[in-house]
Amino acid sequence: MKLTRLPLVLSAGLLMLMTFSCDSGKTVPDSAEARADNLLEQMTLDEKIGQMSQLDLGYFMDPEQLKQAVRDGRCGSLLNFLGTEQVNEIQRIALEESRLGIPLIIGRDVIHGYRTIFPIPLGMAASWNPEAVRQAFRISAIEASSDGIRWTFGPMIDITWDPRWGRIAEGCGEDPFLASTLATAMVTGIQGDSLNDPTSLAACAKHYVGYGFAEAGRDYNTTYIPEPLLRNVVLKPFLAAKEAGAQTFMSAFNDLNGIPTSGNQFTIKKILREEWGFDGFVVSDWASVTQMVNHGFAEDDKHAAAIAINAGVDMEMATTSYYDNIKTLLDKKKITMVQIDDAVRNILRVKFRLGLFDNPYVNPEARAKILDPSFLEHSRTVARQSAVLLKNENAALPLAAEKISSVAVIGPLADAPRDQLGTWCFDGRAENSVTPLKAIRDLLGDQRVNYVQALTYSRDRSKKDFAAAVVAARRSDAVLFFGGEEWILSGEARSRGEIGVPGAQTELLEALAATGKPIILVIMAGRPLAIGRELNLSDAVLYAWHGGTMAGPAIADLLFGKESPSGKLPVTFVKGAGQIPFYYYRKNTGRPASAQSFTPVDSISSVNPQISIGDKSFHLDYGFTPLFPFGFGLSYTTFGYSDIELSSQVMKMDGTLTVSARVTNTGKMDADEIVQFYVRDRVGSITRPIKELKGYNRLSIKKGETVEVKFTLRAADLAFFNGKETVTEPGRFDVWIGPSSEEGLHSDFILE
Ligand code: BGC
Repeated sequence: MKLTRLPLVLSAGLLMLMTFSCDSGKTVPDSAEARADNLLEQMTLDEKIGQMSQLDLGYFMDPEQLKQAVRDGRCGSLLNFLGTEQVNEIQRIALEESRLGIPLIIGRDVIHGYRTIFPIPLGMAASWNPEAVRQAFRISAIEASSDGIRWTFGPMIDITWDPRWGRIAEGCGEDPFLASTLATAMVTGIQGDSLNDPTSLAACAKHYVGYGFAEAGRDYNTTYIPEPLLRNVVLKPFLAAKEAGAQTFMSAFNDLNGIPTSGNQFTIKKILREEWGFDGFVVSDWASVTQMVNHGFAEDDKHAAAIAINAGVDMEMATTSYYDNIKTLLDKKKITMVQIDDAVRNILRVKFRLGLFDNPYVNPEARAKILDPSFLEHSRTVARQSAVLLKNENAALPLAAEKISSVAVIGPLADAPRDQLGTWCFDGRAENSVTPLKAIRDLLGDQRVNYVQALTYSRDRSKKDFAAAVVAARRSDAVLFFGGEEWILSGEARSRGEIGVPGAQTELLEALAATGKPIILVIMAGRPLAIGRELNLSDAVLYAWHGGTMAGPAIADLLFGKESPSGKLPVTFVKGAGQIPFYYYRKNTGRPASAQSFTPVDSISSVNPQISIGDKSFHLDYGFTPLFPFGFGLSYTTFGYSDIELSSQVMKMDGTLTVSARVTNTGKMDADEIVQFYVRDRVGSITRPIKELKGYNRLSIKKGETVEVKFTLRAADLAFFNGKETVTEPGRFDVWIGPSSEEGLHSDFILE
């Protein structure tokens, strides 16, 4: 502890801290713990309750009220409060004018970038590049901390199987393994090498837990998640975040199996605290404590506060049921002083770890880094690596810039600077976005770009500019159509019942396809859309998500072959909403469908006897396969997989097994390939998924080059919760190494 950095006006409490530190002569072991305990002893009940309350700027009627509340120790945290000078001033009041000088922790949703915006998290997940993701979150933290933010409400690591759910945009997709590796990367990037570095933010793993399983994908809806699914899938990324050192968790909005997650003793107390040993603090989601009244789980706000405190929610976000009721609840013995002390200690511990007591002020010079060219370059790299090539008939892509006389750039998202930033983007600014239109004009020159927006936004139904778009297409060598969804159609409370391409975009594509010109469709969206019709109308399809500030140049890099697309889908693409849920690690069922067993709806005669024999698990209309499987993504080159080898046919429970294969770039371009490793446990004490991702590796492979890729398994990697306990069961396992969840070289081994 550097004594010189203590606030100049020292309160009694801080003097004690000094003594404490001076006496020891050096930093005591786990000083955060000791300092938190020491401070706790000096706190009044009101001050403790203040620490457990987080208020939004909007709560205060005027800035003076806010200052007084901080002076009075009325709140321990603010959200949506930022700016170097403002934060320094409010922190000065907390440190110098409140009785104990406890700094505020200032939180904000920095979900996929602060001012330099990266692709939406679902897009970043498509890069399968944890190191690039870690760096993106590091950059976000550097930028955000320069405005006084030391806590982000991220990473958002909710697994979901439902693309109707608008918040699918914010997470890492459907798979627990991929999401766990990315959760680790995100937490590490946010928190940096050392929590008390001024550029480190406390991470917040959210939404704990199960929020992505909202029935029908309708936001905030009820969830039912059996314990094996909870532990084998939904909790996995949260455990990874905890292991990576995430300092905070956010309890969610949803009712989980009848118990709202912000009052859920099983998930918070038992799993998070007791089983996992989490020692940071839990914050509620916005008003999720008092919403337990709406859930029908609490009679009133007071009752809700008691339930949340008993469950282990340490800090209440936005509402004031803690502040208003804790004293009464203590008097009535509905909660205990030990619970309050535990909650406050958890919060103080994190504040100490962040160095907020020792180094509370923002250095105004830190803002110089915002939108640093290296940050923008990284945003471009991540956007490039996130885009997934879904179709490329007759090598329609890449386009050869030098051979093209002109291209038609058409569609609502070609020049939509705000939309490309995506959802949950408070601080990114449209004026900093470089759009695809701008990037293509920069590359080809204005003369060679025939731009007709044709639809002013994604839901636009007006056909008045169709004719002009068709004229532009006819004049050009190829059509580059930028469509998809505006940012406002995904994210919180932006669930959709149908997940097709909105507005008149498909009709516009039809009109353009009728010109006979090559159609290159670039989709920018916050969810995996059902794009079957659009796929058929296009020669090539690049799925670019909402790619952030540098989406334009990144997409241009790919369209014109500066680099090959390399992203792979982090989520299964369905043919239509009726196919939901469809995820690759589904169970086999007793009647798995196959190409032989499938009877398309039109092949069934209208006069039919009632039969069941031979019936299999498929939809008469959709069949039994998705539009695109998890892990799928094309490249401008081709990759050959060969020579799968196992270090042994038998793996011992206490041993390891190595599975290797060779991957050759058999095409004409250097490119990255994301090699995937899947396992199937043939027989289990509960049924097991048909495939589970257990490893992956993004490899840069030069044309003609062959690389060997290796994955190592331990018995623990094969463990699962069977409803009673976590077990690794002996028996036969399949393994695959391949380019997606549906292709790959196969082998098997016995675990004994
Ligand atoms: C969201 C959280 C977010 C919080 C604070 C809530 O509505 O569910 O994800 O962190 O608001 O902005």
